[in-house]
Amino acid sequence: MDGNMRKVDDCVRQVREKTDFVPKVALILGSGLGELADEIDKKAVVNYAEIEGFPVSTVAGHKGRFVFGYIGNTPVVIMQGRVHYYEGYAMSDVVLPVRLMRKLGAEALFLTNAAGGISEKVKPGDFMLLTDQISSFVPSPLIGKNVEEWGPRFPSMDTIYDKELRKIIQNTAKECGISLKEGVYVQTTGPNYESPTEVRMFAMLGAHAVGMSTAVEAIAARHMGMSVCGISCITNMAGGTDASPLSHEEVSAMADRVAPLFKKLVTCSIEKFW
Ligand code: HPA
Repeated sequence: MDGNMRKVDDCVRQVREKTDFVPKVALILGSGLGELADEIDKKAVVNYAEIEGFPVSTVAGHKGRFVFGYIGNTPVVIMQGRVHYYEGYAMSDVVLPVRLMRKLGAEALFLTNAAGGISEKVKPGDFMLLTDQISSFVPSPLIGKNVEEWGPRFPSMDTIYDKELRKIIQNTAKECGISLKEGVYVQTTGPNYESPTEVRMFAMLGAHAVGMSTAVEAIAARHMGMSVCGISCITNMAGGTDASPLSHEEVSAMADRVAPLFKKLVTCSIEKFW
């Protein structure tokens, strides 16, 4: 059996020893947004550290656990904290949690992140619904022997972000009076932020926001046939267009500030997914 597959199956087995909960939706919470998981109707919690072989995040402010429970009537698994490629993990480990959640039963993946705004159409504090992505600046998570049971060798990426889920999120935003932009996300490896020239390059390529997660998770999920949707919380202008240089503290502070509204948008949308 393929090493990657064995590792995922082994993690699935360990989670299954702790809970038999079957989620329909998997939700990954980005920086500053993790507390959403504290407020749901919880049925089980599994700390990443309890799962042997599971990648554990080293970033301050990223908790590391799966929360299983209900948002409305929808059974969900929430990742409170994710690992990033810049932490030094292999890309197969970065997307291992997505594959694990798929194997636990999740059919849809809701991705959230903090991102830097590139386009003039977005500003700090905005939410941006992802319509497409550029992953060309990071290695594909599908490099290596293909696991046929997960998906095809050459999966199409023509529609990464599901149109129906997008519609539900747009309608929810309207109903709740929450302004929601739309755009294309580009992923870098990080951990450094972008130079002004890189920001201009990404703008020329058609990106509206930049971040250090999400695109590879979306690819792994689409490979396994999941429906995917995603929202970026624009925490800053990329490259720091203001007088002061960009800092992680600034990014976290903005994420904290908009977290209540973000929570509302995400939970009200998921309630309508099924
Ligand atoms: N660049 C990359 N990732 C980010 C940024 C940024 O400006 N802000 C939040 N995550």
